[in-house]
Amino acid sequence: MLWGEKGKDLHAGSKNFMAFGGGVRLCVGADIAKLLMASFLHYLITKYRWTVTKGGDIIRKPGLVFPNGLHIKISEK
Ligand code: HEM
Repeated sequence: MLWGEKGKDLHAGSKNFMAFGGGVRLCVGADIAKLLMASFLHYLITKYRWTVTKGGDIIRKPGLVFPNGLHIKISEK
């Protein structure tokens, strides 16, 4: 079993944190925030080269976990 800070199980989703809130009160900017993040990632992936410098071991169970981090160097293509 993989444990994170303060013994929290890294394989489970957080039950205490919901990025855009939930229930009766929801973030009204959630959709524009997701659009901006998708656009940011698109340019980061298509216009820049990523080189892994340290870490990068991946565990898929059920989400992605990087037990020793993922250190990358980003340079312009
Ligand atoms: C990654 C970006 C963002 C995150 C993680 C985020 C997260 C949150 C959270 C957790 C809440 C509180 C929900 C609650 O009270 O339970 C909230 C509320 C709110 N957010 Fe965002 N937000 C983001 C971006 C934005 C953007 C871009 C806008 C505006 C363009 C925005 C406008 C608002 C407004 C107006 C509320 C208050 C809604 C209400 O009380 O009814 N947010 N947001």
